[in-house]
Parts: sequence; C-alpha cells; structure tokens
Amino acid sequence: MKRHQMRSIAIILCLSTMIFANTGFAKEPLKKERSRSHIEIDPVNTGTYTGDAGKDNFIANCSPCHGDAGKGDGPLMDTLGEGVRPRNLSDANLLSARTDEFLFKTIKSGGAAVGLSEAMPSWKETFTDAEIKQIIQYVRNSICKCKYKK
Ligand code: HEC
Repeated sequence: MKRHQMRSIAIILCLSTMIFANTGFAKEPLKKERSRSHIEIDPVNTGTYTGDAGKDNFIANCSPCHGDAGKGDGPLMDTLGEGVRPRNLSDANLLSARTDEFLFKTIKSGGAAVGLSEAMPSWKETFTDAEIKQIIQYVRNSICKCKYKK
C-alpha cells in the first residue's frame, strides 16, 4: 500500500470514529438514581411540580381507604378490621411530625414495616420510587398542606 493511501485510510477511520462518537451508541449510560436512603423531594409549594400525577394515583389507589380529601373516610374505611381505621392524612399535626422518609417507607413497604397496621398495604409492586415521591408531594401540597417540622 502506498503512503498516501495509508493516510487516507487513517483519515477515514478517524472521521468515522468521530461520527460514531456523536451517536447514541457511544454515549455513557444514564447515571443511576441516588441511593434510596437519601430521598430528595422538592420543597413543598415551590418548584415546578403541579401534583397532577401524584393526585391521579392518590385518587385511584389511596382514596378507597383514606378518602378523596385524605380524611380517613374512604368507602373501605369500615372494612379493615376491628378498631383499624385509615389515618387522617389531612391532619397537619400528624403529618408535620412525619419525615418524608417515614412516609416513603410506609407507602412503599406498607404499615407493618413502620410499626403501623398491616391494613395499610405496600405499594412497591404498583409504583416506582419516583411515583411514590409524587404522591408524597401531593399529600404535602394538597392534603395536609404541611411539611415536616422538627
Ligand atoms: C386498604 C386500605 C388502605 C389503602 C388502599 C391505603 N391505605 Fe394508607 N393506611 C391505611 C391504614 C389502615 C392506615 C393506618 C395504620 C395504623 O393506624 O396503624 C394507613 C396509614 C397510612 C399512612 C401513615 C400515616 C401516619 O403517618 O401515621 C400513610 C402516609 C398512608 N397510609 C398513605 C397511603 C397512600 C399514599 C396510599 C395510596 C398509595 C394508601 N395509604 C392507601 C389503609 C390504607
């Protein structure tokens, strides 16, 4: 092979690598979500989150027990067993004593995981972590209208 041929092959190789590098194939994989023990939720009543996704999931899945307004008076409220009632999630005193981590664990893993009644189901088969966080934001923004207070 002549020298100038070698050079043009080298240039072609170089160009095609550059083109390839600009396609999706060569891009780094998306960074993994941060570890679960560190949950970040946008501050209540700020930011761009409107609550719609969290609201729809709440009304469809939580309202049967907790009620549309979260007062603990949904249609299933009397069916959970002797003395067991869904919590009143509109109670700002109760919810402002709860950290977002506590609410996350309760919703994800169920009442029994945090020492509450097992009548509060686990939602880990139903919702992604992100969806659970949206529901918590909806509860904080629109149901208790409260944040965690130390
Ligand atoms: C089958 C009925 C039922 C459904 C459906 C249900 N819950 Fe509950 N939930 C309960 C009961 C009962 C308790 C109270 C447990 C207790 O008092 O020990 C509870 C407790 C809770 C608590 C704990 C409140 C606190 O801090 O003490 C949260 C938060 C909660 N539910 C959120 C939700 C969300 C969000 C959904 C929907 C994704 C949901 N629940 C769906 C029955 C239900």
